[in-house]
Parts: sequence; structure tokens; C-alpha cells
Amino acid sequence: MSAAHPPLRILMIGFGNVGRKVMEILSVARHRFPGLTRLHPVWVGVFTRSRGALARSAGLDPQDVLQSLPAESGVPDSHPYRTTLTVAEAVQQLDYDILVELSVLSIEQRGEPVVTWVREALGRGRHVVTANKGPAAFAHAELSATANRAGVRFLFESAVMDGAPVFNMARHALMGSRILEISGILNSTTNYVLRRLEEGSSLAEAVAEAQAAGFAEADPSLDLEGWDAAAKIAVLANVLLEGRVTPPEVARTGITGITPADIRRARDRGCRLKLVCRARRTETGVTARVAPEEIPLDDPFARVEGSGSILRLETDLMGPLLITQENPTLYDTAYGVLNDLLSLAAPV
Ligand SMILES: NC(=O)c1ccc[n+]([C@@H]2O[C@H](COP(=O)([O-])OP(=O)(O)OC[C@H]3O[C@@H](n4cnc5c(N)ncnc54)[C@H](OP(=O)(O)O)[C@@H]3O)[C@@H](O)[C@H]2O)c1
Repeated sequence: MSAAHPPLRILMIGFGNVGRKVMEILSVARHRFPGLTRLHPVWVGVFTRSRGALARSAGLDPQDVLQSLPAESGVPDSHPYRTTLTVAEAVQQLDYDILVELSVLSIEQRGEPVVTWVREALGRGRHVVTANKGPAAFAHAELSATANRAGVRFLFESAVMDGAPVFNMARHALMGSRILEISGILNSTTNYVLRRLEEGSSLAEAVAEAQAAGFAEADPSLDLEGWDAAAKIAVLANVLLEGRVTPPEVARTGITGITPADIRRARDRGCRLKLVCRARRTETGVTARVAPEEIPLDDPFARVEGSGSILRLETDLMGPLLITQENPTLYDTAYGVLNDLLSLAAPV
């Protein structure tokens, strides 16, 4: 390890699909990705909700973590680095450079307890990288201000469209232009379900198929009722339009009320139904909505399939600009986290 690339001491909260993939890429699969040579993680803690936690100030062995915390079971009681610290205590007490937060969003709890962990870490002068929509959806302005005061970064590239460079592009490649309006298709479960409804499935059948294909959660209501899309457009509105919109403030209609007759009517008019997110600046602030819309077949939004996404940005100086993402995998999500980590690592 060169002095130009010092180690990054990482506290990781959440060790599910994304957490495991990030650690796997940075350890056992590292030799496959020469672009990651600047990253030298030292894992000082790995925490889950129900499967225990590991902590070691000198650094955990990632191969041991991957084995000791398999997806389906918890840390063995006998593990030498098993800890009884709570996540809140770890965030406040452990010595780390970056909180990598990969737990889950709770709409009912308005993004808590994660918003508090992120606030505490930033307040302690620690960077935060998260793939969770909650912090930026519920508290972007406050958390960014806290980060600025502490001279650290609050990064969340994977929170919308996985590793597709939405926030990095706006931050680095759209300098001088002002984003005025955002629209997108950002939820894969609803996209898949609407396609299956077009093909004649019932809503229940389509949801069961989406679950079998791995898109939909066991409880798909967050997707079907538009909450996931509302959280994503809230993040986009807050970050790209400087809004103060929380998910419950997004005007929201999900797809549970869509009937076969709605699908036929759209088709007869040369359209497809899609769950579209929209946000725009107004004279008094920013408005955001999520609702099914009839999209003409020749519109790029009508061509988004499966787990793909699309985002359209209207700016004052150029555009419109479209970002599309096809068939993302966990590597795409992990890449957004790695990209954020690289931007915190020492320059080449
Ligand atoms: N999967 C994707 O493709 C994807 C794409 C973009 C963004 N994201 C976001 O990335 C985050 C992680 O996704 P994932 O697929 O890895 O989720 P996941 O497989 O459900 O894993 C979540 C992890 O967070 C832990 N956790 C949840 N609540 C916690 C709490 N209160 N305290 C401590 N740990 C807690 C869970 O603990 P247990 O192990 O005990 O359950 C689990 O280890 C989510 O916010 C998700 O929205 C995911």
C-alpha cells in the first residue's frame, strides 16, 4: 500500500445483498477489478439488525466476515470479534473514517433510525456513503449542511438507479446549468407488473411472478403503492432541484387500482401504462408526484423493460438529457458505493 493511498477505516451497517457484494468485490474478487487499486478498506465493524455484529479496531478479515456472516445465519457466539455494541453505539464510539450505510428504508419511521446514525457520523467528522434512499429523501438539506460544517462528504450515488452516475453527473458534468424538471421510471417491480398485465396476467399473478424473478419484496406494497418511487423522486427533487420534499409529501398514486380495461384503453390509444415519477421547480418551491401515465409507444419511456430505469433531466442551458439503465445487477448497486468510496480515497 503506498502512502498516497492510505487505508480507509470503514464501519459498515447492513450486511445484506449490497453489503456482501461490496465486501466481496473489495476482497475475494478484487484481482478482477484493477480500477480499484486506490481503495484499501479496513473493516472496523460490520453490523446487522438480527444476525449479530463484528468489530475489531485493527480490522476484520473480510474473508472471515463473508464466512462468519453468511446470508442465511448469524455470527457464531464463539466468534472472537463478535460485539454486543448497538449500531448507535458503534456509530458514536468506534474509530472509523467512513460510515458505509447499507440498511433499509422505513417510510413509517421517516427514515429513522438511519437519519440519526448518518447525522451522528457526519457530526463526528466522518464521511457517509449510503445506498439507502432514506437519509436524502427525508433529510438531505440538513445532512448536507452538517457534512459541510464538518468538512466531510455525504454521498449516496446508489440510492437512485444503482451505480448509474446520476448525482455524480449532475455534480461534475452539468456545471453552470440549472436542472428545472425531472421525470423518470424508477421502480422495477411496477414496471414488470405492468408489462405482465399487458400480457394478460392478473395483478396477483404478475406480483407473484415479480417475486419469483427476484424484483419484488415479500411485501410488495411499498413498490405497488408507489412508495419506493416516491422516495426516489424525493431524493432527486431534494438533490437536483434543491427541494425539501419528503416521500409522504409526494403526490402518489400506485398501480394497485389499474384494471385490464385501463391497459386496453392505453393500448387502443397507441400507449403503454408506466409508473412515472415527476418533479419540477415552481414559483414557490418544488413539487413532486408519482402516478401511472399513458406513454406513447414512440417515447423512450415506453421502451423501458424489466428492471431497467430511465431518467430525463430538463435544464435551462441544454438538454433534455436521458439516462437509461438496462438490467442492473447487484454489481451496479455495489459500483455506486465503490464509486463514492473512490471519490473519498486519496487522489492518484
Ligand atoms: N438490492 C439492490 O439492488 C439495491 C439497489 C439500490 C439500492 N439499494 C438499497 O441498498 C440498501 C441495502 O439493500 P440490500 O438489498 O442489501 O438489503 P438487504 O439484503 O435487505 O440487507 C439489509 C441489511 O441491513 C440490515 N439492517 C436492516 N435494518 C437494520 C437496523 N435497524 N440495524 C442494523 N442493520 C439493519 C439487515 O440486517 P439483517 O441481516 O439482520 O436483516 C441486512 O443485513 C437498501 O437501502 C436498498 O434500498 C439496494
